[in-house]
Amino acid sequence: MAVRLLEGKKALVSGVANRRSIAWGIAQAFHEQGARLAFTCLESACRRVAKLAAELDSDLVFPCDVSRDEEISRAFEEVGRAFDGELNVLVHSIAYARLEDLGGEFLTVSREGWRVALETSAYSLVAMARAARPLMKAAGGGSILTLSFQGSGKVVPSYNVMGVAKAALESAVRYLAYDLGPDGIRVNALSPGPIPTASAVVIERFEESTRRVEAQSPLLRSVTLQDVGSAAVFYAADASGMITGSILNVDGGMGILISGAGPHPRAPKPGAPSMQNAEGRRQKAE
Ligand SMILES: NC(=O)c1ccc[n+]([C@@H]2O[C@H](COP(=O)([O-])OP(=O)(O)OC[C@H]3O[C@@H](n4cnc5c(N)ncnc54)[C@H](O)[C@@H]3O)[C@@H](O)[C@H]2O)c1
Repeated sequence: MAVRLLEGKKALVSGVANRRSIAWGIAQAFHEQGARLAFTCLESACRRVAKLAAELDSDLVFPCDVSRDEEISRAFEEVGRAFDGELNVLVHSIAYARLEDLGGEFLTVSREGWRVALETSAYSLVAMARAARPLMKAAGGGSILTLSFQGSGKVVPSYNVMGVAKAALESAVRYLAYDLGPDGIRVNALSPGPIPTASAVVIERFEESTRRVEAQSPLLRSVTLQDVGSAAVFYAADASGMITGSILNVDGGMGILISGAGPHPRAPKPGAPSMQNAEGRRQKAE
């Protein structure tokens, strides 16, 4: 029987809203690799998330609005109780900005819009890492993983204040990695290419960005939840034990291209079977 990379690990996954959530792809991959799972989510999503959690043999679903410190404390107390005071893995897959701040001119962002986006999408990683530390220390170390996007370092039109939040998030990954390293706790981020989730599709011209990845990236297909899930397994597993403070692109190589590179010369011609379809068939067959 194949060795399961996360056998016996206790993992808390935040940010599942529905089946299209990146956090759901990660949770499925963790489950396949033998992890025990707990979930936190917004209270309004808890019933839906509980049904999904049951598919992965978990009944541990705790409400946690990350803009409220008392909810973070309570959720981690519950997680500690459920996991005998220990936690090996924390996935932070949470971001939010007000709709009016995703589109138009970045220049118009208000103080409040800035606060909401940065607090929910970046500060929350710090707050959750702080709450996770005692449980991870008790486990002899741990792995914290968050989700960023290339809008942190480059202008992605319409991404606006969320790009600033992702820049703050990536910087927080490095400072947290420095603080928590001596406790044996690693902190890293995955930076996937565009995936059509509920949060992403509200961004103007989102569809264009997935089509661009399919036509231009070296791997000639867009990123799937499974792609992010398997990269997350690596970061959660002992195999990545010497990696901390890193930001890993999961983007089919899109990030290496110069802007305006245009379609890849070997991209399938319109109407021809695409790499996306070939990959879809391969994943279905497995
Ligand atoms: N979809 C993409 O193209 C893409 C690409 C790169 C990175 N990401 C990042 O992946 C992460 C997950 O997003 P997703 O695309 O899966 O979308 P999603 O909408 O499925 O997930 C976002 C989650 O954040 C949660 N959330 C928002 N405000 C919260 C709060 N105050 N307290 C607790 N939870 C809160 C939502 O409930 C939801 O579960 C985000 O950080 C996002 O920026 C997404």
